[in-house]
Amino acid sequence: MIYAGILAGGIGSRMNISNIPKQFLNIGDKPIIIHTIEKFLLCNKIDKIYVGVNPDWNSYLVDIIEKDYNYISEKIVVVDGGKDRNSTILNIISAIDNDNGLTDEDILVTHDAVRPFVSIKMIDENIENCKKYNIIDTVVPAFDTIVSSEDGKFISSIPDRKTMFQGQTPQTFKINKFMEYYNKLTDEEKNILTDACKIFVLNGEKVFLVNGDFSNIKITTIEDILYAKVLLERGI
Ligand code: CTP
Repeated sequence: MIYAGILAGGIGSRMNISNIPKQFLNIGDKPIIIHTIEKFLLCNKIDKIYVGVNPDWNSYLVDIIEKDYNYISEKIVVVDGGKDRNSTILNIISAIDNDNGLTDEDILVTHDAVRPFVSIKMIDENIENCKKYNIIDTVVPAFDTIVSSEDGKFISSIPDRKTMFQGQTPQTFKINKFMEYYNKLTDEEKNILTDACKIFVLNGEKVFLVNGDFSNIKITTIEDILYAKVLLERGI
């Protein structure tokens, strides 16, 4: 089975608004999270969509999905998110396991709820390549020179820009492999290793790269909302 795991457990503190997590803000005529869910509904390779949402907003999201948008409830399952992004992924996997059981072929396409401009092509390429490789990342080339600094004061090194990429989502993996590697981590490593790809890299797995797009922004600040509205108006 192919599952989508939409990560919506955050509160959007960097948006600097207190009353609502950023994924529920409207762009155009609907909340960001609905734009994102709709992209996954359009992808016919996805069997089921799990959304991990901040527990305080669980019933709010269920209401939107069922009443305002009337989506087929069997296809979308809303679960509580966790204290950090990885915990939200784990809650989603645990719900999938409870509902359907897990096989070694099962794939989870994880995606930030606040990246509504993901394309069906990106999702498709994540899924198709994950059948061959166990883990896929979506990236764009780094346009700026990336400098590395150990102490935040002086440059330690300047990697060749041609070898630098910026990570986006989806990140897609075989669920049982992820759990196998995750369960081997110490508690300390679990706190540090917040990126699924890094957990696979540490276990010697090759992470296949799929092309993202500069429009696949992660909405983080108020300025991003303004940019997102422009992208939406242009039909992206
Ligand atoms: N996320 C999640 N569970 C958490 C924290 C974050 O599912 N406990 C999700 C967010 O909802 C978001 C995605 O991970 O869709 C990317 O994280 P980020 O942009 O950092 O979101 P927030 O944590 O909400 O933002 P901030 O760091 O500004 O508080």
